[in-house]
Amino acid sequence: MSGTLQISLKINGESRVLHTAAHSSLLNLLRDNGYFDVKCGCEQGDCGACTVLLDGIAVKSCVILAMNCDGHEVRTIKGLGGHDRLTSRLQKAFVEHGAIQCGFCTPGMIIAAGDYLRHDGRADREQIRRAMSGNLCRCTGYQKIIDAVYEVAAELESEVCG
Ligand code: FES
Ligand code: FES
Repeated sequence: MSGTLQISLKINGESRVLHTAAHSSLLNLLRDNGYFDVKCGCEQGDCGACTVLLDGIAVKSCVILAMNCDGHEVRTIKGLGGHDRLTSRLQKAFVEHGAIQCGFCTPGMIIAAGDYLRHDGRADREQIRRAMSGNLCRCTGYQKIIDAVYEVAAELESEVCG
């Protein structure tokens, strides 16, 4: 394909060879190739709707150049839900707490929450609020989201402590 670069990356465990323009974001690459579970909001790094895991770290895919992902591994919410136990627990807690309304922010919220908990995140509402502050929600008022993440964090802590 002229004017494009070929890159190889792993998406949700599958090796893919894809073409991208030099200026394209990872978000656009993903959505152009059918990964619509990655949401497109502000495209300026402000809303967190486009959050994915890049080599296991939560990133806002709209501010990552696709060509810089050559040789790397990406996981979207679809690649985590049903496969990753922590993600499944967060999804369940979001549903039970009514932390999902329109659902647009939810994939990014759950990936950001999972990132917090995987990196030793505590059951502390203030710390959770801070960790989730890069993800915006227009519907829920945030409290139910914080409650859902808090519940999973508290369960994890009690499991570790026995
Ligand atoms: S779409 Fe990426 S942060 Fe808003
Ligand atoms: S549930 Fe609608 S933006 Fe968060």
